Amino acid sequence: MSNIPIITVDGPSGTGKGTICSYLAEWLHWHFLDSGALYRVLALAAEKQGIDKDDDVALEQLAENLNVEFKVAEAGSLVNVLLDGEYVTEEIRTETCGNAASIIAPIATVRKALLARQRAFHQTPGLIADGRDMGTVVFPDATLKIYLTASAEERAKRRYKQLKEKGISANLRGLSADIAERDERDSTRSISPLKPAEDAIVIDTSKLDINTVVANISELVCKRIPGLPKTGG
Ligand code: C5P
Repeated sequence: MSNIPIITVDGPSGTGKGTICSYLAEWLHWHFLDSGALYRVLALAAEKQGIDKDDDVALEQLAENLNVEFKVAEAGSLVNVLLDGEYVTEEIRTETCGNAASIIAPIATVRKALLARQRAFHQTPGLIADGRDMGTVVFPDATLKIYLTASAEERAKRRYKQLKEKGISANLRGLSADIAERDERDSTRSISPLKPAEDAIVIDTSKLDINTVVANISELVCKRIPGLPKTGG
């Protein structure tokens, strides 16, 4: 294993993973892999090309040849995602795209095709990897593995608030049902199911505000990886 450190942050959506990972990447100036975005882009590309969600062969080929780029506009800003040179940053964030991603994510050959792409993010000075199987499959030798959980009810409420803030109308009951369905699919699939690695530190964020989660994780990071720059908060 190389000496370049990796921090993996796994867990279902709505647990605060994205916020934590952006904070860590900004603080440490490390690379950031948003693996969910890869599955989302693949789902979007499949839809654009009219590929069926159960056409494993076509999806594998699409995953092998996916023309995706992650562009950081400036330090601390959102990572822009491009598919075939076109910005799809916002388009891949919809609930529909998240659900479509989780429908194609169980296909073993698709996951295999995306593996090398994800591992290529492991570069100096370090990597923050956000996903479902970062600590279990993609980076099993990671320096620090965090697994975030939160009750389905709390996660639905957070998502609802996020959408409202963006001016997107949403229905809490519908969101809860979608989240429950996606959780079920992600955690019961036979390949790389959503679960904590045996050596992951599990944090339940249901009753914690995001600043507390950030503070707790920063402390864990400093303890595990000595000599890091001071935290921003
Ligand atoms: O994290 P995000 O909500 O963007 O992920 C979308 C979907 O992609 C997840 O519900 C999951 O099915 C899939 N995914 C995965 N493995 C990862 C990241 C995401 O299977 N490492």
